[in-house]
Amino acid sequence: MKNYLEQSKIEFYKENGFVQVDNILTEEELDELSEFLEEAMTQEGTNSFATSAKGGSYYKVLNQKVNVWRDHGGMSRYSFHPKLAQIAMELTGAKGIRVFHDHGLWKMPQDSKPTAWHQDFPYWPMTEPGALSVWIPMHDVDEHNGCMMFVPGSHKIGKLTGIDLANPQDIYEQIEGTELEKTKPVKIPLKKGSCTFHDGLTFHFAHANNSDEPRRVLAIIFMPDGTVYSGKSHPVTDNAGLEAGKPFGGGLFPLVARRK
Ligand code: SIN
Ligand code: NI
Repeated sequence: MKNYLEQSKIEFYKENGFVQVDNILTEEELDELSEFLEEAMTQEGTNSFATSAKGGSYYKVLNQKVNVWRDHGGMSRYSFHPKLAQIAMELTGAKGIRVFHDHGLWKMPQDSKPTAWHQDFPYWPMTEPGALSVWIPMHDVDEHNGCMMFVPGSHKIGKLTGIDLANPQDIYEQIEGTELEKTKPVKIPLKKGSCTFHDGLTFHFAHANNSDEPRRVLAIIFMPDGTVYSGKSHPVTDNAGLEAGKPFGGGLFPLVARRK
């Protein structure tokens, strides 16, 4: 398979812990994905699950549904999209890529709260970093309707304590006196058709949604094949038949790209 990314993008990702990629999906694909995601977010299913009850404090941050591909077959076209998986492989240098989980991340209008600065990796039951997220908005995003910000190079600080996003602590208290504390965050507004990839250790934040519409995003977490399950409790891995200390595998964490 051809390389999608120029070397400069891969180097930017390694240095900064995130990268913007434009023209990720075609117009037709994005229209279809928007339709599927709308269905997946609004229909009941037994294999995906919402993490926030309507009216609750986390719902004001994110209306989140995890593993939408397991209830909506059409979503697997996107959560397992060869181009997305191939880019994850190019960025990580992994020999293969598995899906950890996908999630619809809708930031609802009215009394919307920002997504506080955090790293993703502390939430994940993995023994080593390397996993990353692709964040694909269904429409243009800017600071008015919930675009993301990143702290360049913050992935190099390593794993910190996880933040409670419903009742957030200040992650900066964990890095007092470091050079990282002085690094200026960058805001990444995106046009429909663009996305970002970010490392699980990179500090990121999303603005509150002050528009009248939900901010609709599909995010997919990819992990290098060989990533080891730590055994730590997590709703996606509890009762998934995994063994602590052994690599993720099987049909619930499918291999979606393999180096030729
Ligand atoms: C958001 O979409 O608001 C946050 C995404 C993330 O934390 O990865
Ligand atoms: Ni995050």
